[in-house]
Amino acid sequence: MPVDIVIGAQWGDEGKGRITDLMAAKADVVARYSGGDNAGHTVTIGEAIFKLHLIPSGIIHPGVICLIGNGVVLNPQVLLREMDGLAARGVDVSPARLKISRSAHLITPAHIALDKADEALRGGDAIGTTQRGIGPAYRDKTGRVGLRASLLADPEALADAVHAHVVEKNRVLTQLYGQPALDAAQVAAGFAAYARRLAPHLTDGAQLLDEALRGGQKVLAEGAQGTLLDLDHGTYPFVTSSYPTAGGALVGLGIGPRVIGRIVGVAKAFTSRVGSGPFPSELAGEMALRLRGTGENPWDEYGTTTGRPRRVGWLDIVILRHALRVNSLTELALTKLDILSGLPEIPVCVAYELDGARVTYFPSDLAQLGRARPVYETLPGWEQDITGMRHKRALPANARRYIEFVADMTGTPVSMVSVGPDRQQVIIEA
Ligand code: GDP
Ligand code: IMO
Ligand code: MG
Repeated sequence: MPVDIVIGAQWGDEGKGRITDLMAAKADVVARYSGGDNAGHTVTIGEAIFKLHLIPSGIIHPGVICLIGNGVVLNPQVLLREMDGLAARGVDVSPARLKISRSAHLITPAHIALDKADEALRGGDAIGTTQRGIGPAYRDKTGRVGLRASLLADPEALADAVHAHVVEKNRVLTQLYGQPALDAAQVAAGFAAYARRLAPHLTDGAQLLDEALRGGQKVLAEGAQGTLLDLDHGTYPFVTSSYPTAGGALVGLGIGPRVIGRIVGVAKAFTSRVGSGPFPSELAGEMALRLRGTGENPWDEYGTTTGRPRRVGWLDIVILRHALRVNSLTELALTKLDILSGLPEIPVCVAYELDGARVTYFPSDLAQLGRARPVYETLPGWEQDITGMRHKRALPANARRYIEFVADMTGTPVSMVSVGPDRQQVIIEA
């Protein structure tokens, strides 16, 4: 049985959590392969809303094993808080169900302090990170000085390693950034305590997946962030420090390309972005507010992790084609179509005008992207409330037309369309 991958096709927050939850119904293992608690994935089941940051969005299905893969950077304090929150709501997060790859890397308070100090130093050029220590933790990983999750197996050894790490980072924090030093002994003691709780969850992630696949089990790889936040294929430097794209799933889990089945690109029916950087189809004013919402609904466009208002704009086909190419998407899942209901007409960005020429590719050069102006094709809207519809044939003709336009313009089937946040509010084989 192959590995299916769920990937954000835009700048994150496309609804990966809810699509993962949906597909997890048919999976044996769900594995997160990149990022850390910068992610915020929402799963809505009736009245219950689960906001997951580190734990894979398959956790709500009792029979599914959830793996935090080697590509993830893991804040153990955040993980324990998330585990406790789920356990209090009756979700089994025991070591039998929730596994941590020994090769994942740990995020410490020193990484978080450095993330904040880096951002402060950038001033007006700040990336707008989630300040969760993501960049500094991956920097340590690639610099080969990171703290691997395997250290959680030995609380004393971990405490020693964390102590040395904080002492080292304190030199940078105090001497380079003029920031206060952290209490190394206190941080080290905290990590020893986390280790005592998390050690039973450790596993060899790649081996676990290999055995699952050999046993005919179905694996779902859950992406975090989105294609345009990819370190290489996103809007650098306004990106995250990992690889949310399909290649990242292979490296971040220790699997090869031959085991991959479906590669589902999750795309919002419009576009959103949190943090800085170019955004060609961005809207301001009344229409932005209309798409973003005021914050009164749980699905309004305010960050799941940081609560920041998200920047919003029309759907951008140029971005979807880029995501298609970079990830070899087999299909698209279109989310939040319900938000477009009631608009008389809906512009869709189909190309950019760049320095007087019309281009249909996504410029890899940030300055060029900054100069790109959206070229819109305007589609007719629909009035009806579609949140109760479960079949494509029930949708208003113009909503069907919108979906077909996306499929035609990208040359990719739209296999799922969601019309509300709830697990049930989805149209399969759209
Ligand atoms: P993720 O990071 O990709 O998992 O997405 P987030 O959970 O951060 O953000 C998506 C938001 O939209 C969440 O509040 C979801 O509950 C909500 N959502 C997902 N799909 C739909 C949909 O089809 N309609 C509506 N109204 N909300 C949705
Ligand atoms: P999910 O998985 C949206 C953005 C941040 C910032 C940039 C770098 O919920 O889709 P970082 O803290 O990673 O160094 O921040 O990336 N970002 C996200 N935006 N959704 C996310 O995750 C994000 N994770 C990071 O806003 O612009
Ligand atoms: Mg999110």
